[in-house]
Amino acid sequence: MEKLAIHGGTPVRENKIFYGRQWVDDDDIRAVSDVLSGDYITCGPMVNELEKNLAKLGGAKYCVVVNSGTSALHCAAIAAGLKEGDEIITTPITFAASANCALYVGAKPVFADVNPETYNIDPDSIEKCITDKTRAVVAVDFTGQVVEINRIREICDKHNLIFIEDAAHSIGTKYDGKPVGSLADMTCMSFHPVKTVTGGEGGAILTDDEDLYKKLVLAHTHGITHDENQMEMAPHEGPWCYEQISLGYNYRMTDFQAALLNSQLKKLDSFSKRRKEIVKKYNEAFADMPEIIVQKEIPESDTTRHLYIIRLNLDLLKCTRREFFDSMSAENVQCQVHYVPVYFFPYYKNMGYERGLCPNAEEIYKGIMSIPLYPKMSDEDVDDVIHAVKKIVEWYRK
Ligand SMILES: Cc1ncc(COP(=O)(O)O)c(C=O)c1O
Repeated sequence: MEKLAIHGGTPVRENKIFYGRQWVDDDDIRAVSDVLSGDYITCGPMVNELEKNLAKLGGAKYCVVVNSGTSALHCAAIAAGLKEGDEIITTPITFAASANCALYVGAKPVFADVNPETYNIDPDSIEKCITDKTRAVVAVDFTGQVVEINRIREICDKHNLIFIEDAAHSIGTKYDGKPVGSLADMTCMSFHPVKTVTGGEGGAILTDDEDLYKKLVLAHTHGITHDENQMEMAPHEGPWCYEQISLGYNYRMTDFQAALLNSQLKKLDSFSKRRKEIVKKYNEAFADMPEIIVQKEIPESDTTRHLYIIRLNLDLLKCTRREFFDSMSAENVQCQVHYVPVYFFPYYKNMGYERGLCPNAEEIYKGIMSIPLYPKMSDEDVDDVIHAVKKIVEWYRK
């Protein structure tokens, strides 16, 4: 048996590998630099082009590009008309922003439990959380695998709820052949550097609904319109006139970020293909290891995986998740945990959320960690990660 690096053995690799990272090449850099030496550096032709590209990719009529996935969710909450006294239902196994978007508009996040095998929000649990205050569902395509769209759509239609899909992980994924972007009332994307394509930061909201689109446009630019049909004062005031007609924010994306994203989108298919290859290699490597539980894949979702989660079967191991995680780190494979259930955080605890709310999510959280997954990984990198997992499992096997 190989001695673990954490106990003084030789690490499986010399340099550290991280759980995710961007891939920015010379074409991307040229695209950004062209914009920087041009006339528009914020909100110019590249943003318009990006909105067209994303709408086409997602099969949606409209797209509004913003400066982060968090702003996308905030704008979606505004466009949905959420306000104080309203409730939204979301998952605890997500980044905090999926729930925070309710708080931004004074509404209350309610946490539904997750499916113990896919880790996505469980439609049965959504139904149990519905009250006469529920106005929306924010369903997260966790790791890139689409939620149970048809069931959630049915529930939303039955109870007159707005369906917001948090697709921060799932750009490039298709469900029953339909692209993410065409499945919910509003689809929110993120372009943070660990995501499948990046703009440094960035986000977008896709919708087919013209009314929601108009509200999204206003929300991301101060509630200001240049459309004479929407104005009261103009044109009497003069041709310079624009009017603020609602409360909005400055959530605009710069043109150089949009240029980076337009360039990155050209590589989405190859990024996607490489992510799928790595997922397949991991799945095969862990298939005969009962100590490692992998996320169940549903056939409807042709998934571009953003994260690869291993869940430790702690009954079969003589270590804690923390010991396993630290051992991976000592082998120079830096993992991360996605996610601490949102309501565990002090901010939520102080609002009265208690542990025990979502038993499946809490159980899953105890054993999970994300191992490296990004397109620039070489086959050797992938082999090193598998080697590290196997080495540690062998050491701690009961
Ligand atoms: C599921 C989910 N929702 C929302 C966000 C927020 O996106 P951003 O970091 O672009 O604000 C993230 C990003 O980390 C995320 O993973």
